[in-house]
Amino acid sequence: MRQVLVCQYTNCLANGSAEVLQAFQQQAEAIATVVDCGCQGQCNMGPTVRVLPDEIWYCRVKPDDVPEIVQRHLQHGEVVDRLLHPRLHPNYL
Ligand code: FES
Repeated sequence: MRQVLVCQYTNCLANGSAEVLQAFQQQAEAIATVVDCGCQGQCNMGPTVRVLPDEIWYCRVKPDDVPEIVQRHLQHGEVVDRLLHPRLHPNYL
């Protein structure tokens, strides 16, 4: 089962990561383990969401983005390109 880490540290919280965490808890619990985590070192690009074991980093995630991540990535293993962190995934963009 995949793990979805949703940063709950200050910068990400200030940009709405509590709502992002809540959306994942509501929509992804049956298919992934949702974890509230500390700072992931990508504070200026938050809310930061990291999917393991794929090591995929999504940035500036909003609650409205969560259904797409759940359906495409968690259900079908397809990366959501438009939300990828550009510095950590330069080859996708
Ligand atoms: S506060 Fe979320 S990555 Fe640092």
